[in-house]
Amino acid sequence: MLSIVLWLHNVLRWLVVVAGVAVLALEYVGWLGKHEWKPTNKILGMIFTSALDVQMLLGIILMFVLGFGNLGFFLSMHIPEMFIAIVLAHVGSQLAKRGATDVAKHRRAAIWYTIAILLILMFIPWQRPLLPGM
Ligand code: HEM
Repeated sequence: MLSIVLWLHNVLRWLVVVAGVAVLALEYVGWLGKHEWKPTNKILGMIFTSALDVQMLLGIILMFVLGFGNLGFFLSMHIPEMFIAIVLAHVGSQLAKRGATDVAKHRRAAIWYTIAILLILMFIPWQRPLLPGM
């Protein structure tokens, strides 16, 4: 059980990173180029926030399986910062949908996702295997 959940949590990190960088690029291009808000923006944002939700669920399972006493760095840094990043990504996605104009939608998504992705990149434990078993 532990190894499957840890395997998934390790691999899914790459979907979060790739989807996060892709949606960020799309939002900055949309904002600065004053482009229309298209379904692709919504879908990519949903892939990013949904992958984060699954990561959170897997992470919570890991917390319980591993036991809180054995988490050290993870309890003090990784977990609280990732919770904050996930909330910020969701707030950004909701605010973007409610933007008055297409440019406002892109701008809101770009700003909130930037903060979320920076936090995520800072608090991924890069010292651990980049892929399971590596
Ligand atoms: C609130 C959400 C999250 C929780 C509760 C959580 C929890 C955890 C826990 C408990 C571990 C420790 C595993 C161990 O000691 O062996 C861990 C490891 C890890 N987490 Fe998270 N995490 C969360 C979000 C994320 C996110 C968003 C990412 C990346 C996008 C991520 C990437 C990783 C990676 C790469 C590891 C190391 C996996 C390995 O050693 O193979 N986590 N996480």
